[in-house]
Amino acid sequence: MLVKIDQIIKEIQSLSLKSRDDADSFRLRYLSKKGIIADLFTEFKAVPPDQKKLLGQRINELKKIAQEKIDSYLTSAGGPSSDKHEMDLTRPGEPKPPGSRHPVSIVRKEIIDIFARVGFVISEGPEIEDDWHVFSALNFPQDHPARDMQDTFFIRRNPDILLRTHTSSVQVRVMEKQQPPIRTISPGRVFRNEAISARAHCIFHQVEGLYIDENVSFADLRQVLFYFSREMFGMETRIRLRPSFFPFTEPSAELDISCSICGGKGCNVCKYTGWVEIMGCGMVDPNVLDNCNIDSDKYTGYAFGMGVERIAMLKYQINDLRLFFENDRRFLDQFSAAY
Ligand code: PHE
Repeated sequence: MLVKIDQIIKEIQSLSLKSRDDADSFRLRYLSKKGIIADLFTEFKAVPPDQKKLLGQRINELKKIAQEKIDSYLTSAGGPSSDKHEMDLTRPGEPKPPGSRHPVSIVRKEIIDIFARVGFVISEGPEIEDDWHVFSALNFPQDHPARDMQDTFFIRRNPDILLRTHTSSVQVRVMEKQQPPIRTISPGRVFRNEAISARAHCIFHQVEGLYIDENVSFADLRQVLFYFSREMFGMETRIRLRPSFFPFTEPSAELDISCSICGGKGCNVCKYTGWVEIMGCGMVDPNVLDNCNIDSDKYTGYAFGMGVERIAMLKYQINDLRLFFENDRRFLDQFSAAY
């Protein structure tokens, strides 16, 4: 009997089930009430008690092998249905929840669209930069404390190769290649060696803008920023410019908008001042134009730069910058309708 059982095991192992018909006849032949294995169990009742242990184990093993054979076919064929048409093409499909766009992408696109409507084109550049494009061409003197304003990541201890701390570097590249009129915005990722907190992160996104032509004035800058602020935060938005300092602009300013949360009455977002700062800006310093071979006697220009996360935080009332980088679906799913 042992020989017979081993033969059946070999037989089963050499079989391959290719269709539901194969599987059905396999079950009938081996596993049904009148099948080979059931017969073996009947035969087993009559064996002498001293052989029972060994034979019993072997028959159980055989049964297991047969069962596994049919199970593995059925799982690969998509379940034990006896239906010959394995797919019902008339049934509605299973709904797949669509992903949502990241709020940083939504806001970055919105900023780009607003400026594209008044003629700005997009320019992009490398994230790994050299000192010239991030600092020196932009009028940061060597060893000037202004370099500390932007805590820089250097690569392999080589002070000439670094991760860009702002996308102004892209604008240097544009000015080096192209003569005015230049009207461009550079969106992109920037890196600063800052401790991560609710208000700061070592990676964030910027959109910086640059306009150079003959007779570009501070009034033009103010007008384009007013236009942007109202498009972004609503027609009732007011703006104000506060004097500031950047090495690459003169004069320099910071742009505040009337608080879009309280409308200027005072709340904890604007710290009860009624105003929130949204970007830096100014008239391009003539030294920067000269560094990029643009005639600073003939041309003037303005520049501005903003953090995309900051704009998104104000627009959607998000109070912690870290949420943008954690990829928590409960946060991200709230923006699925926003685009
Ligand atoms: N590059 C500045 C920054 O990253 C922003 C800025 C751009 C300021 C253009 C003035 C003019 O902080």
